[in-house]
Amino acid sequence: MSAPAWLLRGARVVDPAQGRDEPLDVLVRGGVVAEVGVGLDAAGATVLDVAGALLAPGLVDLHAHLREPGEEHKETIATGTRAAAAGGYTAVAAMANTSPVSDRAAVVRAVRELAEATGACDVFPVGAITKGQQGETLAEIGELVEAGVRLLSDDGRCVASARVLRNALTYARAFAEPVVIADHAEDPDLVEGGQMHEGVHSVALGLAGRPAEAEEVIVARDLAIARMTGGRLHLCHLSSARAVELVRRAKQEGIRVSAEVTPHHLTFTDEDLRDYDTNLKVNPPLRTAEDREALRDALVDGTIDAVATDHAPHAVEEKEVEFDRAPPGTIGLETALAVVLTELVAPGRIDLLRAIDALSTTPARILGASEHGGPIAPGRPANLVVVDPEASWVVEPPFVSKARNAAFLGRRLRGRVVHTLLRGRPTVLDGKVVA
Ligand code: DOR
Ligand code: ZN
Repeated sequence: MSAPAWLLRGARVVDPAQGRDEPLDVLVRGGVVAEVGVGLDAAGATVLDVAGALLAPGLVDLHAHLREPGEEHKETIATGTRAAAAGGYTAVAAMANTSPVSDRAAVVRAVRELAEATGACDVFPVGAITKGQQGETLAEIGELVEAGVRLLSDDGRCVASARVLRNALTYARAFAEPVVIADHAEDPDLVEGGQMHEGVHSVALGLAGRPAEAEEVIVARDLAIARMTGGRLHLCHLSSARAVELVRRAKQEGIRVSAEVTPHHLTFTDEDLRDYDTNLKVNPPLRTAEDREALRDALVDGTIDAVATDHAPHAVEEKEVEFDRAPPGTIGLETALAVVLTELVAPGRIDLLRAIDALSTTPARILGASEHGGPIAPGRPANLVVVDPEASWVVEPPFVSKARNAAFLGRRLRGRVVHTLLRGRPTVLDGKVVA
């Protein structure tokens, strides 16, 4: 059955791939963009009046924990991808710290089959770097790449051994396709037992610290190994000013590195933990206001390439415990775009084209998701999001995600997804998930 035809009329089209930001009509037919222009004829298509809205390429998340297989009580591919669609995403990278770990082709295939059968967006399974994410021996990387994996990560855990990281980055160069090694950069010895950023607030709250230096030393090490091997390194969820500065210099030097930042690290600081809110317990931890400013500057100047959610669902009973016992993580797929619009675009900190670039076009390129991220042009797959930039809403349950551990719970945000189209089919229509 062919996808229905839609005429999206009058939106402000924001398309970083073409540097385009202007009001245009977009005609979608047969799952692809058929025409882009002014005053287009509907020619039998269903007209969606989207005047005043933003129309952008569907968002792409480099970092989502969908929890399936193995922890379906937290999230499933069905619920996680619906949360993604609700947030305007058409593609997500599904992290490998599932049970079993995605360290071989059989797990990747199982995830992909589940996504095809039950998913509301495209799912790009991430492969583990090491067997069982144990940090000792390399996973079946050849087999994983053969199965279509382009991003490898032990996320949740840092690759603690420099030797193992060296081997992974060297191996990644052996393939015709670009393969990226993504590290969770926190030195395990330095963060052992730590609950939050180490500083005046951890002392005041009586919680053990995870110092910023734990990130700094691993980022410095990873960059040196990327230089040495020529492999493509990606740094997950950067959180500290000094790590950002190391990445800035590495890029000037020509080291092949990309980096991401989460909406929560762009918004909150360690001071916000004063009420011991376990929804704000994340790894790496929320840091100081100076760190947050450095992250914002780095996103604006491109030192940090992408915004990634680190969507990390946990069950209510897992988070409703003492701070020390709560697992780290916040959900983020349903709020990421609105957070960027509210915290960065509305105050004029970042322009809309760069914001969409960081949420869609650049992560699509890093992931090798060539059908996503734009350009919005004739013949291209119609992976699109329409956003009402004025809609003001409060983050509260019910969520589309199975989980409710949202760092932004209770916050008012501006900007809401109206429609999401996946290859021309609505996954969200008039604000409702329909996939
Ligand atoms: O806060 C986090 N939660 N950080 C991670 O690196 C892992 C994630 C999880 O899997 O829950
Ligand atoms: Zn991580």
